[in-house]
Amino acid sequence: MVAAALEHFGRLDCVFLNAGIEGDVGPFETRSDASWEKVFAVNVHGVRLGVEAAIPALRSAGGGSIVITSSVAGLRGSPGLSPYVSSKHAVVGMMRCLAVELGPECIRVNTLNPGPVDNRMMRSIEQQANPEHAEDVHKAFAARVPLGRYVTNEECAATAVFLFSDAASGCNGNTYLVDGGFCSQ
Ligand SMILES: NC(=O)c1ccc[n+]([C@@H]2O[C@H](COP(=O)([O-])OP(=O)(O)OC[C@H]3O[C@@H](n4cnc5c(N)ncnc54)[C@H](O)[C@@H]3O)[C@@H](O)[C@H]2O)c1
Repeated sequence: MVAAALEHFGRLDCVFLNAGIEGDVGPFETRSDASWEKVFAVNVHGVRLGVEAAIPALRSAGGGSIVITSSVAGLRGSPGLSPYVSSKHAVVGMMRCLAVELGPECIRVNTLNPGPVDNRMMRSIEQQANPEHAEDVHKAFAARVPLGRYVTNEECAATAVFLFSDAASGCNGNTYLVDGGFCSQ
């Protein structure tokens, strides 16, 4: 993807490491090795490899902005989601290390931390948490959000665009919540 971006645009300024998986939902001690490894392979090592691939091109451009999608699950615990929550905490740590290492080269690194988003991933988590009454799980999650609803893909994307823009030129090494107030209580 870095090679394709360089071929198409001639330089690389922005890197969005957004891919992630929710994994299986269930009690901590019942999660298999394979489940932990798969979630960490995508959510942590996928991000690591993406950053490693992008650094030379960002250096050549004289700086840039990396946004890693973490989650409110990178800042809070959540029952039944231990591999996912652990992986999302891990990339917050990775972001802080990168921000400190790359900041002197004008490469800014931040995480986007959405609350529950109204999309496929939350449908999967709701369904796994209560296959008979997934809508009850949806209501319970939404009730924990002061705005009273899940956020949208568009609201998350808008914050990523901000972090890539010159308006965010002073933003480095931080977590940017799009959570409707989820973490405020
Ligand atoms: N949906 C939520 O409530 C929520 C909340 C907080 C954070 N997030 C995070 O937002 C990010 C985007 O997820 P989403 O909510 O759009 O869910 P999604 O499942 O709709 O999208 C995930 C995307 O990641 C891609 N992906 C998964 N594994 C991959 C792999 N091995 N290689 C390449 N691409 C891969 C999928 O193809 C898909 O496009 C994820 O990192 C997720 O953990 C989601």
